[in-house]
Amino acid sequence: MDKPVEWVYTDIVKDHFANPRNVLSDEASYKEDGKGIVGNIKCGDQMMMAIKVDKRGIITDCKWKTFGCASAIASTSILSEKVKGMKVEDAYNISPKDIAAELGGLPEHKIHCSVLGDKALRAAIDDYYKRKGMPNKIKRNNEQIICQCMNVTDKEIENAVKEGARTYSALQEKTKSGTVCGKCKDRVISLLEEYSGRHYK
Ligand code: FES
Repeated sequence: MDKPVEWVYTDIVKDHFANPRNVLSDEASYKEDGKGIVGNIKCGDQMMMAIKVDKRGIITDCKWKTFGCASAIASTSILSEKVKGMKVEDAYNISPKDIAAELGGLPEHKIHCSVLGDKALRAAIDDYYKRKGMPNKIKRNNEQIICQCMNVTDKEIENAVKEGARTYSALQEKTKSGTVCGKCKDRVISLLEEYSGRHYK
């Protein structure tokens, strides 16, 4: 029989889950500079993140709403605190692992839940650049969005493969690509094969 999965959450996770910070309660009156939505409510996982950015390119406020699990709620709550006062360039580079570290760790099988906030934040920053009519200097050169629903790029897929994702489902776990409409599945699988061939020959 498989070993039972351990559900051990740190006190920080429990606190942020029980008292989530910066939840957006009145979307209609919130005047954000950038908004990102990833996931799909029909699939039970959706995240919206909205940011305010001052003239210096510093995030002054961050609000969010989700229909996600406890780990997604705690991860996004702490992320929304961490990004305030950060330059958009620095916020763009926050990874799910950084978020998990801020929470004092997440159970291994729940780390992928923190991907939701991270992707919504980057979508909000992309939207901020678009609204301002500014070139997006942060979006890494030659990176292509492969999964539109979850804002997953080819580079992220390659990194996930390098970190050990060798099957489509492992890749979905790590990046959340293909977890909504599934239209990107063929493209994701072909990249999985390409990167596996490149990095594991
Ligand atoms: S494009 Fe919809 S799940 Fe990837």
